[in-house]
Amino acid sequence: MIPELETAILNPTWPTAGLTKETQPHDAPVYHLAIKDVIQQELSSHSHQKWEMDQENAFFVGDLGEVLRQHRRWSQLLPRIEPHFAVKANPDPMVLKLLASLNLGFDCASKAEIQQILDLGVEPQRIIYANPCKQSSFIRYASQQNVAKMTFDNAEELYKIKQLYPEAELVLRILADDSKSVCQLGLKFGAPLDTVPHLLKTAKDLDLNIVGVSFHVGSGCLDEYAFEDAVMRARHVFDQADAFGFHFSLLDVGGGFPGADVTHGTTFDKIAAVLGPAVDRHFPAHIRVIAEPGRFYVASAFTVCTNVIGRRTILTSDDQQSASYMYYVNDGMYGSFNCIMFDHQQVQPRVLVKGNDFCFGRSFQDQPVFASTVFGPTCDSIDCLVKEAPLPLLEEGDWLYWENMGAYTICAASQFNGFKKSNVVYTNTF
Ligand SMILES: Cc1ncc(COP(=O)(O)O)c(C=O)c1O
Repeated sequence: MIPELETAILNPTWPTAGLTKETQPHDAPVYHLAIKDVIQQELSSHSHQKWEMDQENAFFVGDLGEVLRQHRRWSQLLPRIEPHFAVKANPDPMVLKLLASLNLGFDCASKAEIQQILDLGVEPQRIIYANPCKQSSFIRYASQQNVAKMTFDNAEELYKIKQLYPEAELVLRILADDSKSVCQLGLKFGAPLDTVPHLLKTAKDLDLNIVGVSFHVGSGCLDEYAFEDAVMRARHVFDQADAFGFHFSLLDVGGGFPGADVTHGTTFDKIAAVLGPAVDRHFPAHIRVIAEPGRFYVASAFTVCTNVIGRRTILTSDDQQSASYMYYVNDGMYGSFNCIMFDHQQVQPRVLVKGNDFCFGRSFQDQPVFASTVFGPTCDSIDCLVKEAPLPLLEEGDWLYWENMGAYTICAASQFNGFKKSNVVYTNTF
């Protein structure tokens, strides 16, 4: 347990309201301001450093209060299911520290992720090593650190684990129907149901300890009934396991829960209304149920602000009103916006600063807008963030902001072309 941050974030005296940043020992400073005010504060502090080299750098605002709100939603709507945050979605140190202090478990995919969580003081029992194909040395590391819960979906992995960590508590990851999800993970992982008897027999012959079943309906799940279907598949595997002499005690319903920002498909509330009762119907109370939500906790908690570093005007006639514009901003597809490529995200630019005006939240519906294509800063033409977005005419030096940028963004950013990853400034709006 790391109580300080929980106490801190729930304690209205920390950080104090106002424009000052308060620092906890070993923590990054955290504002206690609305996102809008944090951004304004950051921008004005930039403008005081007029000749500072990095004053136009793109930056994130990470709202720890929003992460906490999402956790509250989870606890209210799925009280039986213990969340294990999928670190891969956003391994931000302050987010992890907050979630550790809230007593969450963690889904780790690699040695480095396990290390990062153990370094926070989290007990190894609160970690599931949820990667069905693991590097041998990582299994050895898990064994040394007593991180016993780990997933598998094939016989080869069982032989490997038998050699390296025979006492591991194995979780059989089965294939779920992910056809209704934006990112289909079943192409790579998940044992088809017809392979399950063979896997159970192999584990029995090797005297390995399988403790339960996991599945993942795919990231960005658009259909709540995919969860119900997967729960029924898991029930079937539990029953098969009984026949092989296993006594399963763990169901892991994986990830796939949308963030708070969804505009189409399903919502967390709808999933909870289907998943919670399905779990209760098919699994008695003594079965422990966990989940591996990633996106759900962090998507809506991060906003990125980018500076317009250049503009090109495209004139197809002499009529300035029919002009379109190409803008270049200083974070892109090779940086935080890699989510467009890898996570199929659609991002939306909003005007933050235009001239001397701070425009956070303004719609610009009543003003002329132009078809605007926004590119990232690298030399690659694939580095295009949005095409033909309706934006007012912007100048070099103006700012755009992009909301819901907390999941699968900074964590997969590269420094291609020498562009640094965007820094995070923290606030707590809880
Ligand atoms: C094994 C596993 N668990 C959990 C997650 C998190 O998924 P999501 O962010 O959709 O909740 C992923 C995402 O790829 C995953 O591969």
